[in-house]
Amino acid sequence: MKKNKQLAGLLMRLHGVDVSRYEKSFLDKTLQKRLDENHCASPEEYCVCLEQNDQEAGNLLDSLKISYSEFFRNPLTFAVLEQIILPALVLKKGKSKSKEIRVWSAECAAGQESYSLSMLLEELKTGGNEISYRIFATDQCETQVNEARNGRYPAEALNNLNFKRVKQWFTKRGDTYTVKPALKNYINFSVFDLFSKELCCPPESLFGDFDLVVCANLLFYYKSEYRKIILEKAVKCLAGGGYLITGETERDILI
Ligand SMILES: C[S@@+](CC[C@H](N)C(=O)[O-])C[C@H]1O[C@@H](n2cnc3c(N)ncnc32)[C@H](O)[C@@H]1O
Repeated sequence: MKKNKQLAGLLMRLHGVDVSRYEKSFLDKTLQKRLDENHCASPEEYCVCLEQNDQEAGNLLDSLKISYSEFFRNPLTFAVLEQIILPALVLKKGKSKSKEIRVWSAECAAGQESYSLSMLLEELKTGGNEISYRIFATDQCETQVNEARNGRYPAEALNNLNFKRVKQWFTKRGDTYTVKPALKNYINFSVFDLFSKELCCPPESLFGDFDLVVCANLLFYYKSEYRKIILEKAVKCLAGGGYLITGETERDILI
């Protein structure tokens, strides 16, 4: 859609929101959906609708906040984490002075990614390994962070989990499954904007120095110059020999 500039200017002027960071095709698709829902024949008509209707600006901004997530999303990546990366980190920490494995789940949505990582690290303990770890789970959206902290999910959200994991890590009440404290204890949830100019890592982590940063399934929503800002921030926070994980479909867009 042409006229994105005009819309972006309008949203900035009326609501202080910068949509110019979003990748063009994602922005076009989202705007087209809003145009269709509002029966607007042109972007100009939609601009008028936005100026007259505060609620529609909210609807548009909501549709730009993509928070979809799953437990063990990107199964190949989680298999590599389970079989190679996390055991390697356990081995490395066993030989080093600082024993704690430090993980940053940099846009955790409702917590599925952070809890998946915690499950894997907990399961490694059963091999007789002494493991100390902390996961810093952040998202720019406070609602998502609160959901993550609550750790309550409907049955269908647990589809990727085998019976053993569901039984071991969740308590069922009615149709809701709640993550057990044993898994939550190792995770700090907080709000953090990856575009923050003041902060280079989540303040809760004090000094970053992460052995693993997971920044998955977010980059493709942003233009390349903004992906670069996010990636530079993530890489700066890595400890020597640390790992950065992106989404499986994002690797082609990184260069
Ligand atoms: C599609 S979800 C991905 C969640 C999870 N990483 C995964 O792979 O399933 C994208 C998340 O990024 C968050 N997000 C978007 N822009 C962000 C930013 N600038 N800083 C931090 N989080 C952001 C959104 O709120 C959303 O929860």
